[in-house]
Amino acid sequence: MESERERTLRRAAEVASATAGLRPEPWMLTARVEERMRAVGASPEGYRRLLDDPALGPAERWALVESLRVGETRFFRHPKQLAELAAGPIAELAARHAEHRRVRAWSAGCATGQEAFTIAMVLCEAMPPEAGWKLEVFGGDISEPSLEVARRGRYPAEAAADVPPALLARHFVADGTGYRVRPELARLVRFAPCNLLAPGGPRACDLVLCRNVLIHFDVASGERAVVHLADSLAPGGYLLLGHAESMRRLPAEARLEALGGGLFRRPSDVRPSRPADRERPLGRDAPRPPAAGARPGSDRRPAGGAQEATSDGATGAGQPLRVRGRHEDGQRLAVELREALQRARGVLVVDLDEAELLGDPVAIVLRRARAAAERAELRFVLTATKPGPRRWLRRHDLADGGEP
Ligand SMILES: C[S@@+](CC[C@H](N)C(=O)[O-])C[C@H]1O[C@@H](n2cnc3c(N)ncnc32)[C@H](O)[C@@H]1O
Repeated sequence: MESERERTLRRAAEVASATAGLRPEPWMLTARVEERMRAVGASPEGYRRLLDDPALGPAERWALVESLRVGETRFFRHPKQLAELAAGPIAELAARHAEHRRVRAWSAGCATGQEAFTIAMVLCEAMPPEAGWKLEVFGGDISEPSLEVARRGRYPAEAAADVPPALLARHFVADGTGYRVRPELARLVRFAPCNLLAPGGPRACDLVLCRNVLIHFDVASGERAVVHLADSLAPGGYLLLGHAESMRRLPAEARLEALGGGLFRRPSDVRPSRPADRERPLGRDAPRPPAAGARPGSDRRPAGGAQEATSDGATGAGQPLRVRGRHEDGQRLAVELREALQRARGVLVVDLDEAELLGDPVAIVLRRARAAAERAELRFVLTATKPGPRRWLRRHDLADGGEP
């Protein structure tokens, strides 16, 4: 018969998979769960109860995931793969976009930012901003502590030693015992929380790097993530996975051509399921770690169709509900939320950035929607990046992290 300890380890493995797609090695799972149990002073049974506690569970589940994820990274990691990327896909993108001079890239699972800055440096070589190129790089990760480091853009001298000297001189300044990314490079790169298990990553990317991430995923989560990565590509865009993680069985739904060495291409005739909008800043649509109160395991249903759910009429599953205009009493929003909840698959993201006015009753409506989402085993994520809506969320105690 299964012991309490074994049951707790099994539940922790389920949480890691459902929350972030992770499949930790058994030794690591055991070590980290024991650390977490010591940290919170719980027995195996108590820890299991804590993971499933409606109020305290979400924070502990993310603390567990934070302890289980592998965050190792380096500047110019796998240099041969990057050299091939520069010589092939990046050169092709430079030629293809020579007229409008815009290129967008995503480092998915960017950890502390080295990969995102690396790709920004590589792009700058082929498409210099001084020559009018508008480069955008988005770095996304589930780990808020890692993203904090990435946003600071300051690295110890040992980390900077991986950067070729000419690029170190061009893109970094000495800062105490380490180096800081120069503002010219930093302003090309934007970091925001992003969970590959959820749809809705940045759109219309010409290049997506997701290296050394899926290798830590269980098979089903890896396939799901690849579909989301593929959906973020513009037609003709490239996806680069780590050498070791070229999918054994690429999901047909991803519609990717394998080019070898971990490189894939979205055929030019495949339209993204979400409309491409290059004017929209990167990171605005990134799926975020779930709100406090969201349930792990609530995200198991496959991401649904791909129309857009907005508060001004367009509808669809898997996309944010954008709350637009004035919402004094919350009645109109209640109807929109009810419809969005019916359509949502796995997660419902409610984005408040475009709201012009939010009355106090809207907070009650949002709380009710969150409770309804929980009952329906949906993750409910409230997001806002603009100061006004963020202040409103905080004032109503609805801020749930995950904001860039
Ligand atoms: C080993 S690091 C790889 C960093 C970088 N891509 C590189 O190759 O150097 C893996 C990163 O993936 C992130 N990660 C794990 N699960 C994720 C998920 N579901 N969504 C987004 N990022 C995730 C981890 O937090 C970690 O920072």
